[in-house]
Order: sequence, then structure tokens, then C-alpha cells
Amino acid sequence: MSLNTDRSYKMKLRDVENAFKYRRIPYPKRSVELIALLAISCTFFLFMHTNKLNSRLKEMEVKLQPSEFSALGLTGNHISGHDAGKHDDINTLHGTYQYLKSTGQLQRLSADRLNNTKNAEVEVLFFNRAAKVGSEAMLELFIALVDYNDDLELERSGLREPTVRQMTKRAQREAAELVAGLDEGTFYIRHINWLDFSEFDLPLPIYINMVRDPVERVISWFYYARSSYKNAIEYRKSPNKKIKPESWYKKNFNECVRSGDPECQYVPHTVKDFIPNFKRQSLFYCGHHDDCLPFNSPTAVQMAKEHVERDYAVVGSWEDTNITLTVLERYIPRFFRGAKLMYEMHTNKITNRNKNKRKPYIEPEVKEMIRRNFTHEYEFYHFCKQRLYKQYLALNLHELQKHGLLN
Ligand SMILES: *[C@@H]1O[C@H](CO)[C@@H](O)[C@H](O)[C@H]1NC(C)=O
Ligand SMILES: *[C@@H]1O[C@H](CO)[C@@H](O)[C@H](O)[C@H]1NC(C)=O
Ligand SMILES: *[C@@H]1O[C@H](CO)[C@@H](O)[C@H](O)[C@H]1NC(C)=O
Repeated sequence: MSLNTDRSYKMKLRDVENAFKYRRIPYPKRSVELIALLAISCTFFLFMHTNKLNSRLKEMEVKLQPSEFSALGLTGNHISGHDAGKHDDINTLHGTYQYLKSTGQLQRLSADRLNNTKNAEVEVLFFNRAAKVGSEAMLELFIALVDYNDDLELERSGLREPTVRQMTKRAQREAAELVAGLDEGTFYIRHINWLDFSEFDLPLPIYINMVRDPVERVISWFYYARSSYKNAIEYRKSPNKKIKPESWYKKNFNECVRSGDPECQYVPHTVKDFIPNFKRQSLFYCGHHDDCLPFNSPTAVQMAKEHVERDYAVVGSWEDTNITLTVLERYIPRFFRGAKLMYEMHTNKITNRNKNKRKPYIEPEVKEMIRRNFTHEYEFYHFCKQRLYKQYLALNLHELQKHGLLN
């Protein structure tokens, strides 16, 4: 909706500009000034109007789409920590707690209502891992859990599948059939976008995934693409591939962004990437629809949020390891019983898996430059984090209050 109003506003602006451009008749100075004044006030009026309309629509949407999971409702997560209040940042555990408390939602928290695991129709764990969110570490945890619990197994075939951005309906169906056909108690892990099992009349598995700060993700990808680990794997797959020049390997991220190098341009609404870089974290949650592709698009992010809300049992983050492990353990006990203990026993193995040791310094201004182009991606990321905190609070509220951890 905001897209359309934006567009019509831009069109009107262009009309005004064109009206100026294509007039060849010389005007006396006064009337030029008058026209300019008129144009400016016209633009201003339109600007005010679209702004007001936009926020009205947003308000209506929030009212129409309450969210069981996220503190701010399904469409209300654009509120950044800065706007939400001076006292606290809503995008922290404590901030989410404060927000829920001040809006009277705390008493109504219910772990049962925040539990999507019970909607699953087959006890298969489907981890459609997003790129650069630490999924290899999660795989290491799966391995530890499978070793520890005889009722669990790990299906590895998905690990060998190449990452495809958008799949045909037929390929989607085949992928979904494979997952739905696995034995109960199986972990399945693959880089693949959200799949709609009900569309294919297949039983719903237990969906999980992980998120990570969007800008940290793209920086991580930039250096991962240059790592010897990744390049060794690719060389083994296709030894005849042309090797990139040394200057490419030595490229510095700060320079790359500042100089406008196309590799480090993250332009909203673009569909093609100069070099594949997985900058769309929300794509893994949005799915295979064409509308999911434009980068940082509100439509794609909205679809992604709806899928998270309805389908995902847990979307965790290694930025909140303890919270994530607790939520996994309690909401999906069949698979994650003992996860915290396993994590503690295997911390080194888990945290070192596929970790890129090369972490050069990134200037804060450079991060800020890219952050500005990831607004909706941040909205999605914060939505998932608030949801995770809410699930955690619903479990531990009394405990946390008793120990004074939330005051
Ligand atoms: C951000 O997006 C704008 C277009 O909206 C583009 O001109 C700019 O180069 C982008 N900056 C980065 C660092 O991606
Ligand atoms: C996470 O939990 C472990 C023990 O379960 C504890 O030692 C550690 O301090 C916790 N970390 C944080 C950041 O709370
Ligand atoms: C969520 O549902 C699953 C499956 O019914 C159940 O095993 C688990 O204990 C529930 N967790 C919570 C916190 O309600």
C-alpha cells in the first residue's frame, strides 16, 4: 500500500518537474517565482498527505493483524528502539518485557498459545537454514543430540543440495515430499526457502530457523566468499572454473562500500545481484513467490512475517544463545531435550564450525551506510527477535521476576 502511494506521489512530482522542463515560452521573472512557489507548496501538501495516509494505513493494519507472537503486532515492528521510548530498546529481552508490561500484555502471555509445535502433523524437524546465520553450528548441535538420543536421526541429503533462490512448483513439491516422508524423529537441514506443505496436501513438519543482524550477515558473506574454506570446496566441485584475480580476494569491505563498487551496493527493490550474496534474509522465510525477490521490499517482508507467525515453531539466534537453547528445549522437547547440556559439552566444536577467522575492522559509518538500505530486513529481523523473547518470557516469567532479573 505504501508502495502505491509512494509511486503516485513520485509521479505527481515528476509531472510538476516536467511541466517546468517542457515550457519553452519565456516567462517574466515574477511568474517564474510564483510557479516555483506553487510547485513547492504542492509538493509539500502531497508529502504531508502521503505521510498522514501512510501512518493511518499502518495503524489500521496493526489493528487488523494482531500477533500472538510479536510484542508489537505483525505489522507494528517498524518501531525502532529509538522511537519506542527513551527508557529502553524494545529489541532486547528487557525492552520486550517492559513493552509487554506497559501495554498490559504480560498477564496474558501463554506458552501454549505461543507453541506452534503442536500444529505440526508429522514429527520431522525441518530446518530450512538461511545463509550466514550460523547453521553449521546448529548442525553440530543436531549431531550431538542424535548421538545422545536413540530416538533421533539426522538426514544428511539436504546438505549436498545446491542453494537455489527460486524453485519451480515441481521442485518445491519434490522437496516437500521428501521432508514429509522422513521417519518421525528426523532432523532435516537444507538451504531452501520456505515450503508450503499444505499447498501439496502434505503433513506440516516442525519448522525452525535462525536469524542474524542483517548488516553483520552481509559482511560475513563478503569475507566468507573470499575464504579458503569455501574456495577449496568450490574448486573440488569444478576444478576448471576460472579463478578470480588476487585483487578480488584482497578487496576491503570499507573500500568496497565507499567506492560504490557494485559488489557492495545493496539497492532496494533490485531483483538481480551483481554477485550472489544472500542479502535477503527474509527470502528464506518468504518462499518461492516472485514477490519475494525484490530486495528490502515491504511486501516480501510481510509475507515472511506471516509465515513465521503461522508456521515456525522457533526462530532463534546465536546472538541470544541461552534464550534460543531454552526456547528450543521447551517448545520442541522431542528434538531438543538436553540441548543446553549438549551445547555446554560441545561448545568448542559447535562454535568453531565454519567460523571465519578473518574479521577485519568495519568502520561504523560504513555499517550505517548499508544499514539505511536494509530497513525492512531489520523490521523482519526484529520481529523474529521479539517473538523469541516473548516465547522465552512466557516460560520463565515467574522465575525471572523472582530473581529480580527483569526490573
Ligand atoms: C542504497 O540504496 C540507494 C538507492 O536507494 C543507492 O543509490 C545506494 O548506492 C545504496 N547504498 C549502498 C551502500 O548499498
Ligand atoms: C548462559 O547459561 C550458562 C549456564 O547455563 C551461563 O554460565 C552463562 O553465563 C549464560 N550466559 C548468559 C549470556 O546469560
Ligand atoms: C509445545 O508443544 C509440544 C508438542 O505438543 C509439547 O511437547 C511441548 O511441551 C509444548 N511446549 C510448551 C512450552 O508449551
